[in-house]
Amino acid sequence: MCGIVGMVGADVKIGEVLDALKKLEYRGYDSAGIAYLSAHNTLNYHKKKGRIDELLDLMQETLKEKTQVAIAHTRWATHGEPNDVNAHPHIDCTNKIAVVHNGIIENYSDLRERLIARGHVFVSETDTEVIAHLIEDNYRGDLLEAVRRSIVQLDGAYAVGVIHADEPRRIVVARKGSPLVIGKNERVSMLASDVTPLLSYTRNVIFLEDGELAVLEKGRYRIFDLQGNDVVKTTVHIDWKEADAEKGGYKHYMLKEIMEEPEALRKALADRIKEDRVYFEELEKFKKTLREVNRIMVVACGTSYHAGLVFKYFVEWLSDLDVEVDVASEFRYRNLHVNERTLILAISQSGETADTLQGVRLAKRKEGKVIAVCNVVGSTLTRESDAAVYIRSGPEIGVAATKTYTSQLAVLYLLGLYIISERYGWNKEFGELIYQMRNMPEVIEGTLAHSNQLREVATRYKDYLHFMYIGRGMSVPTAMEGALKLKEISYINATAYQAGELKHGPIALLDEQFPVFAIIPRDRLFYKTKSNVIEAVARNAPVISLATERDEEVGEFSKDVIYVPKVNDLLYPLVMAPYIQLFAYHVSDLKGLDPDKPRNLAKSVTVE
Ligand code: M6R
Repeated sequence: MCGIVGMVGADVKIGEVLDALKKLEYRGYDSAGIAYLSAHNTLNYHKKKGRIDELLDLMQETLKEKTQVAIAHTRWATHGEPNDVNAHPHIDCTNKIAVVHNGIIENYSDLRERLIARGHVFVSETDTEVIAHLIEDNYRGDLLEAVRRSIVQLDGAYAVGVIHADEPRRIVVARKGSPLVIGKNERVSMLASDVTPLLSYTRNVIFLEDGELAVLEKGRYRIFDLQGNDVVKTTVHIDWKEADAEKGGYKHYMLKEIMEEPEALRKALADRIKEDRVYFEELEKFKKTLREVNRIMVVACGTSYHAGLVFKYFVEWLSDLDVEVDVASEFRYRNLHVNERTLILAISQSGETADTLQGVRLAKRKEGKVIAVCNVVGSTLTRESDAAVYIRSGPEIGVAATKTYTSQLAVLYLLGLYIISERYGWNKEFGELIYQMRNMPEVIEGTLAHSNQLREVATRYKDYLHFMYIGRGMSVPTAMEGALKLKEISYINATAYQAGELKHGPIALLDEQFPVFAIIPRDRLFYKTKSNVIEAVARNAPVISLATERDEEVGEFSKDVIYVPKVNDLLYPLVMAPYIQLFAYHVSDLKGLDPDKPRNLAKSVTVE
């Protein structure tokens, strides 16, 4: 979704601000813009539909120019089509105030009418433009006060950065509902939608909360609440390295991030397995709650939802605990039977997904106990949950979740064992699972070495228009994740079904033009899945099978077989994940698409 950055300080180059903005490209956008003050404190701005590179081309002459203050934006269109006029920053009638905004202003129509009645002239179709005019209307020589008076009139979500030509050494920022992080070094103070642009400047950051404003000046900031009181906050240290968020010689971030999976797994598992037992230091104070809850509900979206499904199958198989999993956008509108004995597991890579956050808020109002399973330290989800378990994947820039999915799975397996053993004691059977989990980074390392085979298979299938992924039991989430990966980065119509459901309708679709991707490990459901695959073969569907190594039987009915190492039945979702990711990656790349920036998608979905 939209990304905002801002810099105030000494000798800030325009190109430097746009470099910082580029670090937010991965969030997804369709236009970009920048506003800054010139040496004579006049407001300049440039906006362009398309990529930041197009804006850079337009601004070649200006990139080396220096300024004291600038704000910039990548827009993911909500109100009004992507074009130069609707792109941010938005400017007031006096040409002195510029605003960048991430979020949605729900009452913008009313505000717009009122402001037009007061003589303001609007040029765009966006909701954001009302903020610029509202601040203009409230401005009496103090930008902080004008922003404060304005934001209390806004309904909806916002992270805003505002500059004023008459106050050339400051940026005022405010947050409600959309992420906003600030940081500083001696030369500059900065704001951004997430930490990635800040990493070149500082690792110590502050995450603003809803209802907070801040004034940023060279090398310092002050934070206030809506009543104007000072707010004292602790900085959060981010241990991600700048290089983690770079391509490091790979053609795409997505490929790099898949290849990073063994290392990410090592970090996810580190210090959580001790003497063949599972240990979560961050949940020590939560143990009593884990024993007392009588119900587990998982709330998540997209890939994180699929990880939640694996958790459900796993925990239900090893215990008599029931686990319910819901996509957050549905969860939040159900008549939820949540109470103080319900454990909510909120899974989110970014920790900023609006639907998941709203689900958590709702569950907390009903006194549910919330554990966040998250990648981003200090994100909104982790701050609002009762406890946070980090998956420690490092920054994931590709829009498609890859290494964060495998790390989520690893952490969720351990978390499942932790919860079960807290309640029912340790079971000897868990020892074997722990042993295999320990070895998982090496196992995955070995599988990634066969990435070329996946490219060969992808070459044969890249031109099909449809795909059906099928599996049973724990392979259902793998099928769903495989279909999601393929559709989101290659735009092929890929659906996923429980293999047993084929005959209840979807089999009608199958013919020689409709390949089936079968998730068919040699587990206890193998023969059930095999029957369904054979039914697909009988309809001439070409079949790719993802199967257990040396399982020659699968070769008898599949056109192509991709083998994975043999593991415990419950761990196949983890060992198979890199293969479905690589297949989708290679199809996308072979089709000449950009898997890192799929059309219409955003990395972090901060609107409903
Ligand atoms: O940050 P989150 O895990 O909450 O994000 C949830 C989904 O938006 C995300 O998994 C999305 O489906 C990805 N594009 C999947 O590759």
